[in-house]
Amino acid sequence: MSSELRRPPGTFDVLPTDSAAWEGLLVCFARTVESAGYGLILTPTFEDLAVFQRVGEATDIVRKEMYDFEDKGGRHVALRPEMTASVVRAFIEHHPPVPWKSWSAGSNFRFERPQAGRYREFHQLDIEAIGSADPDLDVEVIALGLEFYAAAGVTRVELLLNSLGDSTCRPAYRELLLAYLEEHRSGLCEDHRARLEDNPLRVLDCKKPACQKVVKGAPRQLDHLCEPCAAHFARVRAGLEALGIDYTIDTRLVRGLDYYTRTTFEYAGLALESAQNAVGGGGRYDGLVASMGGPDTPAIGFALGVERTLLAVEAEGGTARLTGGRGLDVFVVDFAGGDAGRDLTAALRGAGLRADRAYDGRSPKAQFRLADRSGARLALVVGPDEAAAGTVGVKDLLGDAEQVTVDRDEVVAEVRRRLGPPVRTGSS
Ligand code: HAM
Repeated sequence: MSSELRRPPGTFDVLPTDSAAWEGLLVCFARTVESAGYGLILTPTFEDLAVFQRVGEATDIVRKEMYDFEDKGGRHVALRPEMTASVVRAFIEHHPPVPWKSWSAGSNFRFERPQAGRYREFHQLDIEAIGSADPDLDVEVIALGLEFYAAAGVTRVELLLNSLGDSTCRPAYRELLLAYLEEHRSGLCEDHRARLEDNPLRVLDCKKPACQKVVKGAPRQLDHLCEPCAAHFARVRAGLEALGIDYTIDTRLVRGLDYYTRTTFEYAGLALESAQNAVGGGGRYDGLVASMGGPDTPAIGFALGVERTLLAVEAEGGTARLTGGRGLDVFVVDFAGGDAGRDLTAALRGAGLRADRAYDGRSPKAQFRLADRSGARLALVVGPDEAAAGTVGVKDLLGDAEQVTVDRDEVVAEVRRRLGPPVRTGSS
């Protein structure tokens, strides 16, 4: 195959049956957040470039990693690098009543160096709660992420927590930090030495040893919060503690987007390599709606990386929890040559069972091979004898029990009896 017909670097295909874990994760997420009043929102995968420029012109995500281009109508558009800006754009455009709670799932695009857990097209599960500054909402949002991980089978998650202050206390802290970093400029990594003034806060979470050494002695935003921000953060901490949620204060957690105010948090998947173990993250963005031309409206949300979450599920050996109950119930093996296979499959599907069959008049042996490969629990067998007698052979494909014969009218009840009660995917 010529190289232009292969998938681009940093992208991947998810094939059946690997996709079962994806489906399980999505169902699990929808169930978790819908139980707290979040409704599904769909927004375009591309927007006017300006929508995303507002989330941080000094950030790598916007400056270096965006897939932006002029379309055939001469519009400068960009594939979304994250969901929040699109949701805020939709909020401003449709002005729904607040508080407005939405969830979404979809692809995002960042031109990054591909590696394990870092892709150019990746998927996020996202919630946004727009229109309330109440710190109890911060607790709800943070706790929902953890509830989802637990339901998905990711048990080793560390919650990292910080407050970045607001437009009252952040500018003064920024100056303080900048003054400190300027004093230590020669010790910073090359990149930050060159563009320190663009966004001094980014130095705090720079992974280069030089910056990390300098940052050790840097002033911390948490020690310089204004009174309302300090009270907000205290209430968030008290709420988490009341729910029995452990967290680690990380004063260097500034996150990769410019819009954050007050509470910021990240979920670290401890079963993953530390470089790529941020399985999700989020925070408050009380100034973003106004900066995008909407009314002054506080908001908070998070996005969880699907690929990294699945890597964490796998590392913890829990994939079966997501895929359980997702495969076929029965596979119809029909070598009677008449209508029985077609009609039996339709009747099973009509009764709500997950059923497949073979086509093209394959040999019994080939059909049994297909049945085994299909992952179905049971094979229903219709040979000439069964077709003549109005019966069906029922064979357990997972065990080695003998095939038994039941009346055609009894077959749905027999299948149900053998399958037992339905499995709820991802439930805790
Ligand atoms: P973010 O931290 O940029 O936040 O992304 C959230 C999650 O998406 C990360 O923790 C990671 O799991 C995943 N992720 C990011 N980049 C990649 C990549 N290149 N490959 C694979 N996974 C990746 C946001 O996007 C914010 N919009 C979150 C938010 C929502 N804040 C408030 N509301």
